[in-house]
Amino acid sequence: MKFFVDTAEIDAIQELHDLGMVDGVTTNPSLIAKSGRDILEVTREICGITNGPVSAEVVALEADDMIAEGRKLAKIADNIAVKVPLTWAGLKACKTLSDEGTMVNVTLCFSTNQALLAAKAGATFISPFIGRLDDINLDGMELIEDIRTVYDNYGFETQILAASIRSANHMSDCAKIGADVATAPPNVIKAMANHILTDKGLAGFMADVKKAGIKIL
Ligand code: E4P
Repeated sequence: MKFFVDTAEIDAIQELHDLGMVDGVTTNPSLIAKSGRDILEVTREICGITNGPVSAEVVALEADDMIAEGRKLAKIADNIAVKVPLTWAGLKACKTLSDEGTMVNVTLCFSTNQALLAAKAGATFISPFIGRLDDINLDGMELIEDIRTVYDNYGFETQILAASIRSANHMSDCAKIGADVATAPPNVIKAMANHILTDKGLAGFMADVKKAGIKIL
């Protein structure tokens, strides 16, 4: 499973990238707003860190405007994936931009039917939002499973980009189901390293290091 990092914070992307943990980046208008930076400028900087797909989201609501914005975003770098919302207008923009050879990430997907439409419209990525479904007592992971089944049934090449990931367990569950990509905030990716038995084991080893005076350097 590929790891995308879901942030517009340059330092966090760079740190994870240097560890080989970044196969791509996703942003959205809320993350751009949080960064306090100009969308074109920060997106260009992110594209300079990774060669993987960098999702930059349109802000228009009409198809023609989304297409114009998408074309402008796509000019930033070759690895831009234009992000469009899963609306009828977004699907139109997806089809046009995909036909032009631009990667498109269709976002805000909450149903298998929406994922089917995105695949038909030529999406490179479909972003089902796990956490936001869990927030309203629905099963986000079940959606990932259902889309996997449907895409495999018909050989759709659209990649499942599991989004709205809130925990390390979400990451392992996505990997077990076979999501192509999971995008997560930096703190969730870092939390994947944590295990209470690792901490406990290390504390025991360190106590023995102290007791025996073990030194290497
Ligand atoms: C990813 O593309 C989305 O922007 C992101 O995962 C949304 O996450 P949230 O539901 O935690 O805001």
